[in-house]
Amino acid sequence: ALITLRQLLDHAAENGYGVPSFNINNMEQVHAIMEAAAEVDSPVILQVSAGARKYAGAYFIRHLVQAAVEQWPDIPIVLHQDHGADPGVCARSIQSGFTSVMMDGSLMPDMKTPSTYEYNVEVTSKVTEMAHACGVSVEGELGCLGSLEKGVTDKGEAIDKEKLLTDPEQAADFVKKTKVDALAVAIGTSHGAYKFTKPPTGEILAIDRIKEIHARIPDTHLVMHGSSSVPQEWVEIINQYGGDIGTPYGVPVEEIVEGIKHGVRKVNIDTDLRLASTGAMRKFLAENPKQFDPRKIFAAATAAMKDICKARYEAFGCAGQA
Ligand code: G3H
Ligand code: 13P
Ligand code: ZN
Repeated sequence: ALITLRQLLDHAAENGYGVPSFNINNMEQVHAIMEAAAEVDSPVILQVSAGARKYAGAYFIRHLVQAAVEQWPDIPIVLHQDHGADPGVCARSIQSGFTSVMMDGSLMPDMKTPSTYEYNVEVTSKVTEMAHACGVSVEGELGCLGSLEKGVTDKGEAIDKEKLLTDPEQAADFVKKTKVDALAVAIGTSHGAYKFTKPPTGEILAIDRIKEIHARIPDTHLVMHGSSSVPQEWVEIINQYGGDIGTPYGVPVEEIVEGIKHGVRKVNIDTDLRLASTGAMRKFLAENPKQFDPRKIFAAATAAMKDICKARYEAFGCAGQA
């Protein structure tokens, strides 16, 4: 059944676990995420970006999720809108049946330019007022995702390094003013595969900042964006079978688990499933040159994504919690 983010994360906080929030764009991703959850008995968050709505279409996305609800009636599912650009976007998602929306007021509606604190408070409060009246949860974001190594946002815009780390005092003020259910924080992660140029240390990935924020606002559910771990085995497979993606580094699973001990409840993952599916399809096609049934190719991708989903459910402690 569909539940709200608040319902799921309250349970996660009571029981000390975190939940991966996987981006969905197509049927194979939904299959992988749901089949893995069914096997390990985990609740699920399915999140939908503006890009996903553009790719699949809002009706298809909605009905893919509805299909999952019907096929796995015993698994609690949150349907979450990822990175809402403005209150209007959130309103349309609420109307179309999402049980949770993210208002990303850390950026201006162009989703590139870092915003002011006042702007963020204003748009996020507007969304919580509207969403809570409809029984829908809200995630806000304070601080900008980006690289502490390079001092740029993940859209490549130059930024004050200060804004790349969420300030715990400001977080307390933000939560009080906006009444968000969950707060995405900036700790040096960024979206995509190229988060770090080497395996991250405390200087470029500030997991300790999570502890300070959690100590200040212990009752707020924290969210980590840009939390793909960028599995080196899939990077190597992609490069070995005709890809050329260099040597990117992500967030080690152990660091996320450390965050979960200190209030992180929602862990956003998109890139890892992209890498696994691309790697699996490249390998399958190279090893089966006579095959041209797309179902066989996509099945290899689904299996690879499913392995990642299961590993994350188990590592984050949500396995057995559905
Ligand atoms: O926030 C970033 C997610 O990975 C979604 O990516 O906008 O390409 O769908 P997308
Ligand atoms: P990754 O690019 O690390 O998978 O992050 C996804 C994300 O934060 C979506 O909101
Ligand atoms: Zn994100």
